[in-house]
Amino acid sequence: MTIFSATGISASYGRTRILHDVDLPELHDDEVLGLLGPNASGKSTLMRCLTGEKTHHGRIVLDGSDRDEMDVSAWHRRVATMPQTPPNPSVLMPTELMWSTARALDLDFSDRELADRIEDIFNRLGLDEFALSPLHVLSGGKRQLVGLALALLRDPDVLLLDEPTSALDLHWRMVVLDLVRERLTERGGVVIAALHDLDLAARYCDRIVLLEAGQIVASGTPGEVLTPDNLARVYHVETSVSRDEQGQPVVQVIRPIRSGKQVAR
Ligand SMILES: Nc1ncnc2c1ncn2[C@@H]1O[C@H](COP(=O)(O)OP(=O)(O)OP(=O)(O)O)[C@@H](O)[C@H]1O
Ligand SMILES: [Mg+2]
Repeated sequence: MTIFSATGISASYGRTRILHDVDLPELHDDEVLGLLGPNASGKSTLMRCLTGEKTHHGRIVLDGSDRDEMDVSAWHRRVATMPQTPPNPSVLMPTELMWSTARALDLDFSDRELADRIEDIFNRLGLDEFALSPLHVLSGGKRQLVGLALALLRDPDVLLLDEPTSALDLHWRMVVLDLVRERLTERGGVVIAALHDLDLAARYCDRIVLLEAGQIVASGTPGEVLTPDNLARVYHVETSVSRDEQGQPVVQVIRPIRSGKQVAR
């Protein structure tokens, strides 16, 4: 059973405050939280605070243990992140990168288990045929999938995904998020994903937090958060929101709002 919470998170770069007392909803096994907000609203900074990469104020608690009191390597075995930037296009092959990452993290798997895990992850992400190709010959989307493979390698309880589908085509966007969902059903855990695609967020997230300038402006179910007023306020776009057969919101973006105000329809 995984329970993850992050409360009162504040962070700065130099003298510039980026995050202002952000409280995420407490997440329980099988839940996916979508982190939405415009460019520069602080999504990646928040992700970096949650992994411990960025210094911050506030409390991050996993299964009753405060992150600050946990052994760092134990934390990194349970919490993995896929950063917004994919692995560099180097001469390394995806297989080599997976093995060297596993060694560096001192993962608790035998060589046989690791080989099986790597094969399984590559198969699920359609990377099997690229496993022995240098990263610099892979397309941007395939390198993004290698970034996800690296995060999945350690089989974390908390999976943090920073724009995991931004470089992927329509098919792979859904395959990736279906895989993330299936994984939660199979083994539990929680996922926090920064996303720009509102339809994917509505379809795959149980809860959504909408950030603007480092502050939460709305938090709740996709239906509660993805409203024309919230979207006008935060993204400065006029939208029409309908419901699909499951009652989930479907957002149609109509036009940007130059004045910053929602246009009455
Ligand atoms: N290393 C850094 N040093 C200084 N300022 C930074 C640094 N990284 C990010 N920032 C600033 O922090 C703010 C939030 O950036 P962040 O990358 O968290 O936004 P984001 O919501 O992830 O945006 P995007 O959707 O474009 O990825 C921005 O104003 C950005 O310029
Ligand atoms: Mg970002």
